[in-house]
Amino acid sequence: TTIDNLSRLSLLAKKLEDFLGIRSVKVVDGSTENSSLGIEAAKQFMNEIGDGKTVAVTGGTSIALIPKYIKSSMLQKDLLFIAARGGVGEEIGLQANVIAASFAEACDSSYKAFYYPEALGEEAHKAFLKDPAILKMIDLYNTTDCVLHGIGDAQTMAKLRNSSMEEQQLLLEKGAKGESFGYYFDRSGKEVQRLRTVGIQTEQLQEVPLIIAVAGGKNKAEAILSYMASAPKQTILVTDESAANEMLRLL
Ligand code: G3H
Repeated sequence: TTIDNLSRLSLLAKKLEDFLGIRSVKVVDGSTENSSLGIEAAKQFMNEIGDGKTVAVTGGTSIALIPKYIKSSMLQKDLLFIAARGGVGEEIGLQANVIAASFAEACDSSYKAFYYPEALGEEAHKAFLKDPAILKMIDLYNTTDCVLHGIGDAQTMAKLRNSSMEEQQLLLEKGAKGESFGYYFDRSGKEVQRLRTVGIQTEQLQEVPLIIAVAGGKNKAEAILSYMASAPKQTILVTDESAANEMLRLL
C-alpha cells in the first residue's frame, strides 16, 4: 500500500539522516528515470525559500529536472537566480546558467547570466579575478541564500570535463569518488582535488543557510556518501530509494 511505501521510504531517510548528520534526507520512490526526484526537490525548495532570496544553481541532469515542477502560484516572489558555476561539457540544456534561467521563468523571477567556462588555467584565472563583472558575481556568492546542487560520480565528471588520462588516473589514485562544485572528494569527505573554478567556493557554501543537494541512482551511492562526509550540516539531501539502499549497504 501507499502507507507501507511511505513508511519504508521515511525509515530509509531517517537512517541516512542519522548517519550523515545533515539537516534532513528525503527519499523518493523509484529510479532517477522518473520525475520523483524533481518533484520532491521542487517541493523542498518551495517550502523553504522566502521572498527576495538569491538562489545559486549548478548544472546537470538532476537540477535540470526541478523547474518544471515549481508551481509559481505557491512560490515566494522576487527571487534572483544565478549560476553556481561556469559552463562544463557540451550539453547546453544542462548548463548552470541555462537552468538558472528556467528557474527564473518557473518562479516568475529574474536571473543573472554567467557566460564563463567552469575552470581556467592559472594565468586566466588570475586575470579573471580582476574583472569587475566577476567581482560582482563573487560578491553575490557571498550573499547567496540558497544553493541547489547535483553530486557527480568522480570518474564520470572527469570524463565530462575532458580530463586527460593522466588526470583521471590521478583521481583514481587519490580515491576520488564524488564531485560537486568542481571539487573531488574521497570516501572520507576529504577534498582530493580542486579545479581552479569560476563559481561558488566551498568556503562560501558553508555560509549559505539553505542547501538542497539532489542526486539519485544506485551508481551514485558512493559519490553521495563521499560528498556528504564533509557537506555543510544545513544540507537537505533529496535522493531515491536505489541510491539510499546502496548507501546503507556501503556503510
Ligand atoms: O555537480 C555534479 C554534476 O553536475 C551532477 O550531474 O545531475 O547530471 O548527474 P548530474
